[in-house]
Amino acid sequence: MKESNENAYPSDDRVDVSDYRGSSGLKGMVENPYVLATALFASLGGVLFGYDQGVISGIQEMETFKARFDMSTTENAFVVAILTLGCWVGALIVGYFADKIGRKYSIVLNGIVFLIGSSFQGGAQTVPYLMAGRFVAGLSIGGLSMLVPLYQSEIAPPEIRGSLVSLQQLAVTFGILISFWIDYGCQNIPSEAQWRVPFCIQIALGLLLVIGIFFFPFSPRWLMAQGRDDEALQVLSKLRRVPINHPRVQEEYRDIKVTVIFEQRVEAQRFPDLSNGTTMDQFKIGCYGYLDLFKAGMFKRLFIACALQFFQQFSGINAIIYYAPKIMKSLGLTGNSVSLLATGVIGIINFLCTFITVLYLDKFGRKKFLLTASVCLTLCMVIVAAIVGVYEDDWPNHIAQGWVSVAFIYFYIANFAYSFGPLGWVIPSEIFPLRVRSKAMSISTSANWMCNFIIGLITPIMLDSIRFYTYVFFAIFCFISFFFVFFMIPETKGRSLEDMDAVFGGQTAAEDTAILDQVKTEVYGQQSATKPSSTQLQYEKEEF
Ligand code: BGC
Repeated sequence: MKESNENAYPSDDRVDVSDYRGSSGLKGMVENPYVLATALFASLGGVLFGYDQGVISGIQEMETFKARFDMSTTENAFVVAILTLGCWVGALIVGYFADKIGRKYSIVLNGIVFLIGSSFQGGAQTVPYLMAGRFVAGLSIGGLSMLVPLYQSEIAPPEIRGSLVSLQQLAVTFGILISFWIDYGCQNIPSEAQWRVPFCIQIALGLLLVIGIFFFPFSPRWLMAQGRDDEALQVLSKLRRVPINHPRVQEEYRDIKVTVIFEQRVEAQRFPDLSNGTTMDQFKIGCYGYLDLFKAGMFKRLFIACALQFFQQFSGINAIIYYAPKIMKSLGLTGNSVSLLATGVIGIINFLCTFITVLYLDKFGRKKFLLTASVCLTLCMVIVAAIVGVYEDDWPNHIAQGWVSVAFIYFYIANFAYSFGPLGWVIPSEIFPLRVRSKAMSISTSANWMCNFIIGLITPIMLDSIRFYTYVFFAIFCFISFFFVFFMIPETKGRSLEDMDAVFGGQTAAEDTAILDQVKTEVYGQQSATKPSSTQLQYEKEEF
């Protein structure tokens, strides 16, 4: 397995591998150009996620779109929201493909589904045609919303994995940003190209993802789960830009080996009758695995992950992302151009404020970010509700008040962008033990999409019927989120997975650690098994 000419490094445990570990955060990303390039490229999936969410906001206000699709408010809402219904299904089923054909080919598959969905959207002639396109595109976006962070985390060196997960949210906000400005740029085209072009531009992005991802590596972890150890070693060496027998590669290789054997061992222990390796046995093991989520200590984590996603969505963020021009008009801005311009600014603020998380989350901690945001989001919604409530019938004489409410919408976006936006994805990825993490994440991700669907559907109906109470509605959830975060979410900054049992109660991670230490003894040999049981699970304790 080792190459003869690559003997510059002792490949055993005489070397302290931490000497070879790089920096974290942005510096660490720059020090790992190949990993960064791969993760950035994969986050094109996040750009598609954001783009398809954002593009509809401007399109639905365009004259030629309204002329082609003569829809009631409810139909219009369904066209917007059906994307997220597709995402919900996509997020639920993608786990199977991710294990079966691998992360990379699943990204290709989802990319192809995306191409079909976005072609349907771009070429839509009727409302059902358009809805079908959005549903199919949603299937792939939901899938990509699971796959991209999974792939990113599996190629990343431990010290920058957290930053890479935040990159995904940055990509989402970038997708929203460009979609808003493309809508703005196309608004004056005097034909249906006005909305077909913004829909079709995403085809180019999807094609880039499908073709480009072939040039990037397989996930080394997936390769090893398939028994393709030699290939995994090659990939690791390429990713880390050091020879195969470099201690850093060797250590990581053994760490992954430990995880793979660990998972097989746990399965065999828990399901001795299902160890024949048949498809049916695998399927049953997969289903039973979900039961672990209802164990003491684990259910609370599942509740927190799902509730956090609930509050992320019921804060009202997508009321703004999907219906920004409509909302800008409801705040007294007149003319498509002004409201699309005001919408474009939302995209910029959203994108820029996400950098705060990438740079400072680990310094300040999750709770501080969330609690500060809950207060600010509530205030913004209350102020906007008050202004709209008082002036909504007479905006022409209260232009200044209209702009004040726009300013509070901007402040709202800024607060969402550093808090519930990224943390809705970061916290679920760090509170579960390795073994149940993907299952738990697929449930919390689908909870996110289901809530997203509901918001997409009810917002325009609320704006039309209960008007300023729409903002009161969201203010209530922002307010409750403060107490949810305060009482339910423990600070997880700097905690390892082993710590999580102490934080949440329950024994799962402790039991896992016992099995893990035994596997380590086998894989590392006696000497390294006596190292603190930090090696693999510590990978989960990232700096964000
Ligand atoms: C949410 C999306 C939202 C986006 C806004 C994401 O974290 O899941 O629903 O549109 O943030 O930036």
